[in-house]
Amino acid sequence: MRSLISILDFSVEELAGLIATAEDIAEHPEKYWEACRHKTLATLFFEPSTRTRLSFEAAMLELGGNVLGFSEADSSSAAKGESVSDTAKTVSNYANIIAMRHPKEGAPFVASRGATIPVINAGDGGHQHPTQTLADLLTIHREMGRLDNLTIGLCGDLKYGRTVHSLIEAMSRYENIRFVLISPKELMLPDYVRIGVLDKHSIPYTEVTSLEDAIPALDVLYMTRIQRERFDDPAEYERLKDSYVLTAEKMEHAKENMAVLHPLPRVNEISVKVDDDPRAAYFRQTLNGKYMRMALILKLLEEAKRDPVREAIDTDGWVYDQVCRNPKCICQTEQELPQAAKLVEGAYRCIYCEQKV
Ligand code: NCD
Repeated sequence: MRSLISILDFSVEELAGLIATAEDIAEHPEKYWEACRHKTLATLFFEPSTRTRLSFEAAMLELGGNVLGFSEADSSSAAKGESVSDTAKTVSNYANIIAMRHPKEGAPFVASRGATIPVINAGDGGHQHPTQTLADLLTIHREMGRLDNLTIGLCGDLKYGRTVHSLIEAMSRYENIRFVLISPKELMLPDYVRIGVLDKHSIPYTEVTSLEDAIPALDVLYMTRIQRERFDDPAEYERLKDSYVLTAEKMEHAKENMAVLHPLPRVNEISVKVDDDPRAAYFRQTLNGKYMRMALILKLLEEAKRDPVREAIDTDGWVYDQVCRNPKCICQTEQELPQAAKLVEGAYRCIYCEQKV
């Protein structure tokens, strides 16, 4: 039995398989109407969501399955102090698969250790968001006809934008990818992605502050919102919130076939005037997200049927009793979790949130 916690849990071949299934679902949805009959998806959302939760629910319903869950922490026993692991153990008796979103980094990983059914990370704090990456991959594949030989611009909040972190991890495994990282200095990509992924695999990238200057060279432009809820200092958010706005005027300097992606929700970083531009792919991206989540649910349930025993985690190189100081890490609230770290490119990083210990 497998879970999806990080996009790297799937090989490039497996991602290609998911894309092929998603394309088939889009073309022949009726073939899948009964595929998950009598199966139940639990959506455990400890943090707000529109697209991710609804697209998971729509995905399961369109596969003929059932859905149960909650959409805010206050309505679950977490409000009484229940641990993520206990919640996951309990829900394993009521459902066949879990999709979990949580404000603490590493929470879905901890849930997957407690659950006896597959767990899908639907976003953990500012850390990772692998199912958004599935939507992004299908979108790039459909818009550009390939996943290699691309210059990808990522613009906005690269520090707290978890979708950016997972997308970089995913795209770094395809041939001839280069990144242009466009952000204010305060919101640059965190070390665990820049050093741990880009430098580690010698992926070419540049870090710039001007969207105007960067746009002409891009094949894909991935816009993101400044993540207000993750700022410790509201004044800093106010100062940075209007850093980038993609306008129709700026689009005039972009390649004719550049695709504009955005995980949504949008605040003001893409002018609505861009929506009618055929290169604006962000609403198609939300539909792609549903197809990929359908393909993912099918794959994980199929694997769980074949092999109901949870995969052992690779603890090679783990060093115990390391203290993580990231206040947003799940190990800060659930203190009975073992504290451990592993060595990545010369630094010991927490096994839950990947920040330096
Ligand atoms: C993203 C998220 O939750 O991280 N939204 C989504 O899942 N589509 C992006 C965001 O909130 O800015």
